[in-house]
Amino acid sequence: MRPLPPVVAADGATAADDEVPPPGPGHFLRPGTLRFAAPPPLALYVHLPWCLKKCPYCDFNSHGIAALDDATQQRYVDALVADLEASLPLVWGRRVVSVFIGGGTPSLFEPAAIDRLLAALRARLPLEPGCEITLEANPGTFERARFRAFRDAGVTRLSIGVQSFDDAALQTLGRVHDARQARAALAEAAEAFETWNLDLMYALPGQTPAQLARELAEALAFEPPHLSIYHLTIEPNTLFAVQPPALPDDDSASEMLDLITERTAAAGLARYEVSAFAREGHRCAHNLNYWGFGDYLGIGAGAHGKLSFPERVLRQVRWREPATYMARALEGRAVSNQHEPARAELPLEFMMNALRLKDGFPLRLFTERTGLPLSAVLPPLQRARDRGLVAWRGEGTADEWLQPTARGFDFLSDLTALFMAAR
Ligand SMILES: C[S@@+](CC[C@H](N)C(=O)[O-])C[C@H]1O[C@@H](n2cnc3c(N)ncnc32)[C@H](O)[C@@H]1O
Ligand code: SF4
Repeated sequence: MRPLPPVVAADGATAADDEVPPPGPGHFLRPGTLRFAAPPPLALYVHLPWCLKKCPYCDFNSHGIAALDDATQQRYVDALVADLEASLPLVWGRRVVSVFIGGGTPSLFEPAAIDRLLAALRARLPLEPGCEITLEANPGTFERARFRAFRDAGVTRLSIGVQSFDDAALQTLGRVHDARQARAALAEAAEAFETWNLDLMYALPGQTPAQLARELAEALAFEPPHLSIYHLTIEPNTLFAVQPPALPDDDSASEMLDLITERTAAAGLARYEVSAFAREGHRCAHNLNYWGFGDYLGIGAGAHGKLSFPERVLRQVRWREPATYMARALEGRAVSNQHEPARAELPLEFMMNALRLKDGFPLRLFTERTGLPLSAVLPPLQRARDRGLVAWRGEGTADEWLQPTARGFDFLSDLTALFMAAR
């Protein structure tokens, strides 16, 4: 049996060699250089890695499969449960604030398999009362017929990947659904769920601001409680990176973003993160936990996790290829790689997430979520304020609050880059 890759300690040294079994929880409880007064909130991410067809722009861990047979679904759920069981000692006694079943295309799984998965999670992990449980769904016809059964299995929030309402654009994006199916899926989600999300992308190949305005009007007509609108990015290792389509120029993309903020606000959806818009009471608890640098256990093929211990932080990745993942997880060795980020990496990691929040965050969150003193980021914070990139309110009081200014939000990569060298 091939052992786990070595664990790399905070100073970059190898802490265990290939012959040593993965360290138990005691390993992470030993003294370190961070100081957590209490563990951050814990979320659970579950990755389901298959799609009917790989989209040419997608670099997520998704694998095309013509049909997902029942035996594969059952074996994958068994692997997830084994993965969770092996992880439990790392999160002992902690409650889960949200669950996100993402992909890939989780709606390819039968509701009965999702039901078994959720029952197994509940039996092993205490979920907070009212815990948000999101499932990502594609708008195919056979999937729409399952929405109510997903809700009956315990899913509380559906996230539907519409991307566009224009059939030509959907074809260019390599999507397997058309606009008619997307509309039917949204109507069904609105009937079956109290809260749900619509995913759109913009700055699509050949798209004009006028076309985007029509997309927005269609999306908003469904009165989605939550809307995520992503700027299409060309990711390395995708078909679009090899054969790049003609994309709108920067001026046009920025005109589109202005349209998005204006039309969503007029429809009562507040922008609360770079790409996320929601009505009052419908923000995504799971994503808010990521952006607030909370903890998350990630199970499933290629899933990432971040877990905090009293004096250290652990990052984990599972085996990426589904067959390898299933075989390893069933042996209790789902983790392919884990390491403890160095102290000096945490300020940038924290700021890259938290500064995405439009309303900002209480500054004490930095210490609560990184285990570092505020002094670790004071020089870059002062520089960011001097350049007009952040507003810093209540300085020196218990209610200190940090918020990106409009300029900081527009130039987020310049703002976060200031924290690269923070110690
Ligand atoms: C990983 S997908 C999973 C959801 C589902 N499989 C789907 O595609 O509808 C989550 C969302 O990420 C967004 N996304 C994926 N690749 C992207 C890219 N290259 N640029 C911008 N957004 C992207 C899409 O809006 C998609 O709905
Ligand atoms: S359906 Fe979603 S996850 Fe699957 S390949 Fe397309 S974008 Fe990626």
